[in-house]
Amino acid sequence: MPQTVRRLVSNMPRSKNKTQFVCESCGNDTPKWTGQCSSCAEWNTLVEMRVDALETHTRAWDVAPINDAEELSEISVDQVPRLETGSSEVNRVLGGGVVPGSLVLVSGDPGIGKSTLLLKLASDVARVAGGVLYVSGEESAAQIKIRAERMGLSGQGVFLLEATDLDRVIMEVEARKPKLVVVDSIQTIYNARLEAAPASVSQIKECTRLLMGWAKSEGVPILLSGHVTKGGDVAGPKVMEHMVDAVLYMEGDPISSWRLLRSVKNRFGSTNEVGVFEMSSSGLTDVEDPSQAFIAERRDDSFGSVIVSIIEGSRPLLTEVQALTNPSIFGTPRRVANGVDFNRILVVCAVLSRQVGLPLATQDVVINIVGGMRVDEPASDLAVALAIASSVQDVPVRHHMAAIGEIGLTGEIRRVPQLDRRVQEAARLGLKFCVVPSVGSESVVPPKGMELLPVETLRQAIRASIGVSNVLRTSDAVES
Ligand code: TYD
Ligand code: MG
Repeated sequence: MPQTVRRLVSNMPRSKNKTQFVCESCGNDTPKWTGQCSSCAEWNTLVEMRVDALETHTRAWDVAPINDAEELSEISVDQVPRLETGSSEVNRVLGGGVVPGSLVLVSGDPGIGKSTLLLKLASDVARVAGGVLYVSGEESAAQIKIRAERMGLSGQGVFLLEATDLDRVIMEVEARKPKLVVVDSIQTIYNARLEAAPASVSQIKECTRLLMGWAKSEGVPILLSGHVTKGGDVAGPKVMEHMVDAVLYMEGDPISSWRLLRSVKNRFGSTNEVGVFEMSSSGLTDVEDPSQAFIAERRDDSFGSVIVSIIEGSRPLLTEVQALTNPSIFGTPRRVANGVDFNRILVVCAVLSRQVGLPLATQDVVINIVGGMRVDEPASDLAVALAIASSVQDVPVRHHMAAIGEIGLTGEIRRVPQLDRRVQEAARLGLKFCVVPSVGSESVVPPKGMELLPVETLRQAIRASIGVSNVLRTSDAVES
């Protein structure tokens, strides 16, 4: 090298640390700071992240393997057995157990029962498959021991690590080679090589990336728990949800003992599958027959209550829709919806007012789905409408009856998918009548002891299930 050039090179300033900016809302990377994220248009969400720190990793599992491209038809897949979790409900939600090497995020409100569920899974897997490492960044080992005692778990094969430093976690997993790793929670884990604060977007993104690298290279599944924001999203970047293989949300009414585990993303199974648990004084237990549990306390003679048969993931479920109507003391009547889409309630109320003639303009309407369930299927419209009609008229619906059907704006009852399975579930639990849409009911053969009441309009449905009150009689006269 000529002398002048060498001198030039040695005098060049050493490259500065590169920085980039990551949006805390959507995870978008950009080299320049701007007030507004160019991807999600949120303001003041870009945070600084140092890139040089990310590039210093040289561990074997952190370096992406270099493979040649293969033709899809040539690729053979070894069927790796899934890890049984010991809970039939969790297995159902995950599509048959935990897939080796997968990263599963369990998220939910504080205190809903994430740590309780993870400890139960850790203990069950340890009993069947071998050692499990439970990394806790939130609670001390003593606190976890107290929880385990409360849940009646011996804790054999479950190794607790109180740590928040990712390096410490990786050292332990590499040394111990567990069959399953639980990290409670991902927001508490940080990588010391990043300057960003723990729980910041860059920390969560980077720690998830490194844990995923380890899980994939070792074929060991990792269960992460994650906090949610006020809005119900996983705290931290949305990109974390894209990175993991499955996202499970734990939800439920904190004052009821039912807990639902819902899969909103699953690379190895169907989504929208729901597992049902009961939180008792001794931990979480699977609810084997949720339909039975949800309608167990229902009284047949109470007005404003209707049983609906919904499809959750791959199974039909019965639950109770309750409505309470009350004369409004304000000029504008109030509508309250728990477990049902608010706008759907507005539509059902509008159809009841205009097409049936129910005087809802002066009534507050409160709708509640028993058991903390969320019922977003249009097939539950009819049950909601009948519950409101039953409450307005102070008349209970027929005993042992379920209602299934979507309501159109002209008051017609529309076809619903999988009607036969819904009817069968109602019959299994001893119901005797099912109000169903006329369209599509011809092909359904009702089980023994079950009578179908096919209806074409909401008015017919009310007549079939509640009878005719004075209110309806007046408008019926207009119709006929
Ligand atoms: P936890 O698993 O700590 O919730 P998260 O990790 O989602 O914040 O659950 C805490 C709640 O569960 C707390 O309110 C007490 C209740 N609980 C029971 O009712 N029974 C039990 O056996 C346990 C362990 C907890
Ligand atoms: Mg917890």
